[in-house]
Amino acid sequence: MLIESMRDIGYSLETALADIIDNSITAKARCIRLLADTTSPDPSLAILDDGEGMTEDKLLAAMRPGSRNPLETREQDDLGRFGLGLKTASFSQCRMLTVASRRDGITCCARWNLDEVARTNQWLVEFLDDFTQIPWIDELGSSGTLVIWEALDRLVEGDGSDARSAFVSRIDDAAEHLELVFHRYLAGERGISKVALFLNGRQLEPFDPFHSSHPATQAGPVEKIKSGGQEVEIQTFTLPHHKKDPVEWERYAGKAGYLKNQGFYVYRGKRLIIHGTWFGLARQKELTKLARVRIDMPNGMDADWKIDVKKASAQPPYHVRERLRRIIETIGATSRRVYTARGRRLASDSRLPVWQRMQSGNEISYCLNPEHPVFADFAGRLPDDLKTDFMRVLEMAATSIPIDALFADISANPEQVSGSEMADDTLVHIVATTFAALRASGIDPEDAMQMMRATEPFRENWSVVSDELNRLLERCSDE
Ligand SMILES: Nc1ncnc2c1ncn2[C@@H]1O[C@H](COP(=O)(O)OP(=O)(O)OP(=O)(O)O)[C@@H](O)[C@H]1O
Ligand SMILES: [Mg+2]
Repeated sequence: MLIESMRDIGYSLETALADIIDNSITAKARCIRLLADTTSPDPSLAILDDGEGMTEDKLLAAMRPGSRNPLETREQDDLGRFGLGLKTASFSQCRMLTVASRRDGITCCARWNLDEVARTNQWLVEFLDDFTQIPWIDELGSSGTLVIWEALDRLVEGDGSDARSAFVSRIDDAAEHLELVFHRYLAGERGISKVALFLNGRQLEPFDPFHSSHPATQAGPVEKIKSGGQEVEIQTFTLPHHKKDPVEWERYAGKAGYLKNQGFYVYRGKRLIIHGTWFGLARQKELTKLARVRIDMPNGMDADWKIDVKKASAQPPYHVRERLRRIIETIGATSRRVYTARGRRLASDSRLPVWQRMQSGNEISYCLNPEHPVFADFAGRLPDDLKTDFMRVLEMAATSIPIDALFADISANPEQVSGSEMADDTLVHIVATTFAALRASGIDPEDAMQMMRATEPFRENWSVVSDELNRLLERCSDE
């Protein structure tokens, strides 16, 4: 009964695999291979490493649920805590767990078969002498460990081809997640040894959620919070605006998208535990969606941070929460600036705004600027009775901007939202009218050109606009 309940403590395939990979990293493996047999009648999945391996005594201890005391202090680079992971992670996915290990040239192999445990009602782990039937056993190197999951009742549901392809895609999804969880090990950095991770021969690539190599990513300073002789390190990142990174924008959004992936990324021993949450200290808002904060904690603070058996959740201790709250406020401001800086330019930077942004009290509204030379010129050529009508037309257009739809589109797919293209003859007309109006107000031609260069829609269409302006300038000098 206990073992059946243990199967349901909430692992997913990726958290289960990550728990097994933790063990390999702790055993100083440099190369870890996920081996999946998705085609045979009895599909199986294995994790093979080239780490230190285990002696028979150690393997026996390792197979025991609760093999070590969670209160014990562990080596700094030990990713384990509870003495449970190997068993709980495996049983969450399979009914038969076989572990073969080689150390000092000696190979040993042990197996938990849940059907046997249920049948005999005894906690009997089996030690095998004949290794010939063990899949992938020939792949073990001079030292290392091979963890094999068979009887995958949770992973392969049914015999049909649909069940098989679902199995394959679950493994692929899990692999993608592992590229995030272990990205620092896959990329290598100071203080840890680089690890290569393969899925059936395909090498997995690190996925750095902070996009820290991009020049437009804004990284804050590293902050340290000390408590009880231990140190937590925090660094904030604001990812590039999509205009600065159109090529990779989608990739860095992650599956859940920027909005859901904003927040803290907590690493324990440089391995990601939890991400995309503000721990209830702030809401995940559109304006802070580019903010991601890296928190590095050592394994000695597991109890303070309430690390769970699956290594998939954590809660910051009380004394850290206040500091985190203040960090959210500052990073919120940076992330917001990436967006509002663009908004502001449209509204006020230009000296010839088509649109005006009006703020009164808490209300912000946008209206068309009747003094824009193109509007003013047109209104000036209308008889008085039509002037009022024209102003009403402008007002109607401005007050019916589909704000909600725009906001929804921009938040979902900002890169797909753009202004409509302007026809060349319209542009030429606007250039001529604006230029004439500026000249009429006493601005000399060169200055008028510079003003227009800084203003939309001229800036965006500058090659057409500058040709037209040069023609107009020539005409000025002829006169
Ligand atoms: N790939 C491996 N190579 C060498 N030793 C291993 C390997 N996997 C497991 N072990 C040994 O088995 C023990 C039990 O592993 P298990 O994952 O169950 O617990 P843990 O890693 O100590 O703690 P946690 O429950 O937090 O993962 C480990 O402490 C380690 O000594
Ligand atoms: Mg472990």
